[in-house]
Amino acid sequence: MRGLRDGTTGTHAGMPATTTTRAATGTATALARANVALVKYWGKRDEERNLPAVGSISLTLDGLEAVATVTVAERPNERPRFRQNGAAVTGLAGERMASFLDRLAGARDANVPCADVEANFPVGAGLASSAAIFCAVTTAALSALGRRVDLETLSALARQGSGSAARSVFGGLVEWRRGSAADGSDSTAHQLLPESAWDLALLVAITSEGMKGTASRDAMRHVANTSPLYAGWLAAQEDDLAGMRRAIAARDLGEVGRIAEENCLRMHATSFAARPPVFFWSPATLAAMDEVRRVRADGVGAFFTIDAGPQVKVLCARDDAGAVAARLAAVPGVLRVLRSGPGAGVEMAQGEPPWS
Ligand code: PMV
Repeated sequence: MRGLRDGTTGTHAGMPATTTTRAATGTATALARANVALVKYWGKRDEERNLPAVGSISLTLDGLEAVATVTVAERPNERPRFRQNGAAVTGLAGERMASFLDRLAGARDANVPCADVEANFPVGAGLASSAAIFCAVTTAALSALGRRVDLETLSALARQGSGSAARSVFGGLVEWRRGSAADGSDSTAHQLLPESAWDLALLVAITSEGMKGTASRDAMRHVANTSPLYAGWLAAQEDDLAGMRRAIAARDLGEVGRIAEENCLRMHATSFAARPPVFFWSPATLAAMDEVRRVRADGVGAFFTIDAGPQVKVLCARDDAGAVAARLAAVPGVLRVLRSGPGAGVEMAQGEPPWS
């Protein structure tokens, strides 16, 4: 497999223009990893184009992988457009994937891309599975369609499937810019620090294996429309982004962790204040957060963040990962603890990479 160790992509060439440089290969397979936001994306400035109301910064996660095979077949076909871990995905999620694939293929293409995805971690449980899935599908689809794009354009295209997928194109610590262009051409991700640059660990305390109650996209729309705290969230984000960039450049774990916890709590506060309120936490979520504070009181640098689900993600130094994981595993209600750390960007498993 060819990894993207280097996030340097050159000048952004506009979006979503792609060029065809060779005949479609018919099938291609790509592997992408989930990511966890340390400064969160929460709210959109354009629903149609899936443009974020705020910038965000994330860590791409080693070992939490989605592998997507996209096959371009002639119409009509019997194949389901989207299969996940061997089962056809129907309903809204299936339709969403089909229209995303059609958009990537473009109207001029009579062939229909179909996606087969295998994820090695719980899907739809607040573990950024959509980031890994849409990043892998976008990459495999472009390759199967014979398209060439630069990495920032790949990120802009993946973003249209799921916002956070824009960040999984790159490894390590990644920023996705809000951008201000109406067409979204400047809302792309880039790498802040390669995955090899900092010995971090990211532990995921799983408190529920089930699907989350509210999809991120529905929750953020509801919160933006009804929460009186949403304006405060928007107002505070630039400071968090600037502070996080500085802390990452300085490899200052305490500062990265402080900003990540505050940003996470502010995001969840907007949800508690929505009408009706949205709660992603369970009692075990709170217990795990408490344990992280106790670990810190014992002198170990560990910091939590939580997305649109009940799992608690904990950032610490790689050397402390074993001890922190054992503390989290002992928390009542924590079912298991996944161990991860900085992971690489999207890779091809089969077929030509679509990036030049
Ligand atoms: O990419 P989406 O539409 O699943 O939204 C992700 C939202 C959060 O996970 C809560 C925050 C983030 O930046 O990943």
